[in-house]
Amino acid sequence: MKVLVTGGCGYIGSHTCVELLDSGYDVVVVDNLSNSKEDVIDKIETITGKKVKFYKEDICNKDKMNEIFTSEKIDAVIHFAGFKAVGESVAKPLMYYRNNIDSTLTLLEVMKEHNCKKIVFSSSATVYGKPASLPITEDFPLQTTNPYGSTKLMIEMILNDLYISDNDWSIAILRYFNPIGAHKSGLIGENPNGIPNNLMPYIVKVANKELQELSVFGNDYDTIDGTGVRDYIHVVDLAKGHIKAIEKVTKDKGIDKYNLGTGKGYSVLQIINTFKTVNNIDVPYKIVDRRPGDIDACYASTKKANDVLNWHAELEIEEMCRDAWNFVNKNR
Ligand code: NAD
Ligand code: UFG
Repeated sequence: MKVLVTGGCGYIGSHTCVELLDSGYDVVVVDNLSNSKEDVIDKIETITGKKVKFYKEDICNKDKMNEIFTSEKIDAVIHFAGFKAVGESVAKPLMYYRNNIDSTLTLLEVMKEHNCKKIVFSSSATVYGKPASLPITEDFPLQTTNPYGSTKLMIEMILNDLYISDNDWSIAILRYFNPIGAHKSGLIGENPNGIPNNLMPYIVKVANKELQELSVFGNDYDTIDGTGVRDYIHVVDLAKGHIKAIEKVTKDKGIDKYNLGTGKGYSVLQIINTFKTVNNIDVPYKIVDRRPGDIDACYASTKKANDVLNWHAELEIEEMCRDAWNFVNKNR
């Protein structure tokens, strides 16, 4: 079975390509390298010992996408491609709406024309906004607080409408919580350009002495130690969730949404302390004001993914911290 992975050179896409190849799927990647590098393909091939067909293309290019679908005979698609930085989306909303929505519409049109109607889509816990209670289940009300989140919610709506119009589609919407960590080999991982926005990439740069100290955004939340709580999930566990989702869309028609998280929340200070302990390295930090727009705590109910997809996260927070640091050490 041949799976097209859009954004397959990126952080989550690359780990998912590894799991797909290890599970016996043929993999075709389309990525315009706007936030990744082509050498990721070699690394995926090194890890798996298998070949990946790579197209450096923009998914918004309909002619090219048609050519790829014509020559590759794609069975199913995992759609990761898109821009993902919350702050940048506030500054450049048009760029976010154009890229994330346009690429998805083009992809779906081409899929329809080629009668390929199985898709797994990367959504985000951001669609839950500020949840009224925890853990978050898939039927919680949806609301967004920034353009990035709005693109995810709009794409979910587009997919819903598409399914209503044609019940032949099989659609799995995966709402990721906070992916961190890297592949055990240290060959692939998260490597953002410039100053990171997210916690783990920032911790890693402080530990590596590229940045002086971490700012902890607030210690007056109603949480275990006052710092923000999130559901961190190892990227390899997350990638494995996509294999289960591909199996599901291959077997059953319909549309459904699944949280992919561990179901456990960790505070910023718990993450810092675990990182320091397992890697035996210092991470200097200071407490600063809350970051505007942040919520106090967020973690998933994973029951639906457990029950319906037969998936659950296996790796613990220690492995997430160890593997994130291993990736940096292997790529100095
Ligand atoms: P990433 O930036 O590492 O990967 C995205 C890839 O898509 C990049 O390689 C980029 O070059 C490519 N791309 C972007 N626009 C494209 C286009 N028009 N045509 C072709 N390629 C294009 O991001 P990631 O962390 O791997 O995230 C993957 C998906 O998961 C995204 O849709 C993101 O919004 C979603 N997501 C990520 C997180 C997270 O914390 N990383 C959380 C929730 C959801
Ligand atoms: N934090 C700090 N200092 C930093 C960075 C983060 O204290 O330098 C704190 C935040 O305040 C928060 C926690 O660490 O309490 C996690 O922050 P991240 O920025 O790593 O993650 P968020 O939960 O804020 O957001 C992430 C993605 C969003 C996605 C959301 C839900 O960045 O795109 O998870 O899935 F929408």
